[in-house]
Amino acid sequence: MDMKTSINTVYLNGDYLPIEKASVSVMDRGFLFGDGVYEVIPVFGRNLLRINEHLQRLRNSLQLVSMPMPMSDLSWLAMFEVLLGKNPGEDRAIYLQITRGVYPKRDLTIKPEVAPTVFAMVLQTSPAPVEVLEKGLRTVTVDDFRWHACNIKSTSLIANVMLRQQASEADVIDAILVRDGNVTEGTASNVFIVKGGVIATPPKSQYLLPGITRDLALELAEKNSLPFEVKNISVQELESADEIWLTGSIREIAPVLELNGQTVADGKPGALWRTMIATYLRYKQELRNA
Ligand code: PDD
Repeated sequence: MDMKTSINTVYLNGDYLPIEKASVSVMDRGFLFGDGVYEVIPVFGRNLLRINEHLQRLRNSLQLVSMPMPMSDLSWLAMFEVLLGKNPGEDRAIYLQITRGVYPKRDLTIKPEVAPTVFAMVLQTSPAPVEVLEKGLRTVTVDDFRWHACNIKSTSLIANVMLRQQASEADVIDAILVRDGNVTEGTASNVFIVKGGVIATPPKSQYLLPGITRDLALELAEKNSLPFEVKNISVQELESADEIWLTGSIREIAPVLELNGQTVADGKPGALWRTMIATYLRYKQELRNA
């Protein structure tokens, strides 16, 4: 899925503004420290994908960094409704971020009295048609040197930027991260493999983001009676997999057809991916029509 930033109206601390009029202070802790959390919520037609799960993950991220939820679920929904109305389109995504706000002094210590900065914008997404997805992704494995709190959807993404850059330098599209010999996730996606007809993905832990698309993929696998396991995946299992997929709000479910310069199986998308993508696209269409 290709993604362009909306050039229209954004939400900032209670106001709806043209993007070029929206600005935050250089003393914002999000700017100084990357002291914030975020969410990306796909929107199909007028319907938000798994909104309760996204809000729950947001609550979880906030709690893990000791930040209060700045507004109620109903207020989030009302704001999204207005923002989507001001940024019409077919398939879109809501990007939202909450930082620990503006304090006049550069000081790591949390000041609970400081109001957070709440920002949201609409991303226009253009989902790749199946014929494009089928071309697959070229990837490399890289050492996952990130911290022990990857389950927090933090705006501090410098490590992910550096890891994605390692992929760019290897002239491929993305990296699959490996920690202590096991696959964790992609730079902005979760990882699945298929071996001997069984789908597998690593368990949730502090080493990966609990992807909403990951959970949806597991649910769709179950609905279709496709066998799956949630288990650690070693780099050897990754290298000998029959299929590899990356899942995420932006990538959706994408087949990986090259890993470290070698083709994955015969270099063509596998049968289980075809079943999964068909099921996912049906799910998406139902949501659009809902
Ligand atoms: N990223 N792992 C990481 C590190 C991610 O950044 C993401 C999503 C995922 C997949 O989560 P989900 O299925 O909920 O999108 C896994 C978003 C899309 C981003 O940063 O743009």
